[in-house]
Amino acid sequence: MAAAAPLVLGVETSCDETGVGLVRGHHLLVDAVASSVDEHARFGGVVPEVASRAHLDAIEPTVERACREAGVRLSDVDAVAVTCGPGLAGALMVGVSAAKALAVGLGTPLYGVNHLAAHVAVDQLEHGPLPEPTIALLVSGGHSSLLRVDDLTKSVTPLGATLDDAAGEAFDKVARLLGLPFPGGPYVDREAGSGNPAFVDFPRGLTGSGDMNRHRFDFSFSGLKTAVARWVESREQAGEPVPVADVAASFQEAVADVLTRKAVLACREHGVDTLLIGGGVAANSRLRALAAERCSSARVALRVPRPGLCTDNGAMVAALGAELIARDRQPSPLDLPADSSMPVTEVLVGS
Ligand code: KG4
Ligand code: ZN
Repeated sequence: MAAAAPLVLGVETSCDETGVGLVRGHHLLVDAVASSVDEHARFGGVVPEVASRAHLDAIEPTVERACREAGVRLSDVDAVAVTCGPGLAGALMVGVSAAKALAVGLGTPLYGVNHLAAHVAVDQLEHGPLPEPTIALLVSGGHSSLLRVDDLTKSVTPLGATLDDAAGEAFDKVARLLGLPFPGGPYVDREAGSGNPAFVDFPRGLTGSGDMNRHRFDFSFSGLKTAVARWVESREQAGEPVPVADVAASFQEAVADVLTRKAVLACREHGVDTLLIGGGVAANSRLRALAAERCSSARVALRVPRPGLCTDNGAMVAALGAELIARDRQPSPLDLPADSSMPVTEVLVGS
């Protein structure tokens, strides 16, 4: 069955990863990624113009590498899928233009898809068909969203999102405060491994009773980031050393606590028994452990793709393209735009 499914090429350029993936049905052939993360490191965050230029340099070689590694010819591709948004406008434009050129040149249909829905779809490559409905918690450097997915190809409902910093952004900023490199998430995670998560009781944003009424499934990390900054400053002013591992562990505990608490609550209140976590922050060891613990107590099945599929990649876009084809959804028009603020409710452009 999988061998007969169309060969879908997925293109992802919404942030700093140039991703090209090849997928047949739920089968992943190749996931080729070129990252410009090192070029952004000295700025402590992704610089949009630098990312766009890096995509321009990387897109062709990455398409070629993907085909070579998968042992397919470009002419074998049956359909092209591309991230249209949300993301950085200039970066998106590179991928959308490349995908249009490929689709026109190869004479294939083109599917312009939503980046967030693609983060959900990728899990099918690893764990098979996704039960619907599913609650999805997507946490990365650019987004923090809680979604209800009733139909991966046409019905994705936002339940909440961050009001300020994305979860990964908070990790990156706190890492900087602690003198750790960019992107900070993996370094904070590593430091936290030898720290005490109860060392400082950092605030859990939007979890008080008033906030739980108004912002039940929303997140806020800027207060937490400021609390860490104040704590570190007061130590430094007192001439005392900053216990990096303990601060990292306490910060990470606050983030993992809020994310998992709200995600499991959403499952319970919506009567949904599957939780999927995706995005770069899903690689976080404490988030994974706490989610596993809380899902198990709430009898919710937890699905987390392996770290390489959680971060931005082309396979996730191809996976969503394959699902759209499997469900007979019509391709997008060839003049589809890049849409930096594409709403999550729009899974496919033109539908
Ligand atoms: O999904 P991603 O590769 O790119 C986007 O931002 O869309 O996510 C990158 C983010 C960065 O903020 C990085 O610090 C964070 O994911 N991250 C982590 C970990 N690994 C990556 N955050 C916490 N713990 C980790 N182990
Ligand atoms: Zn992403």
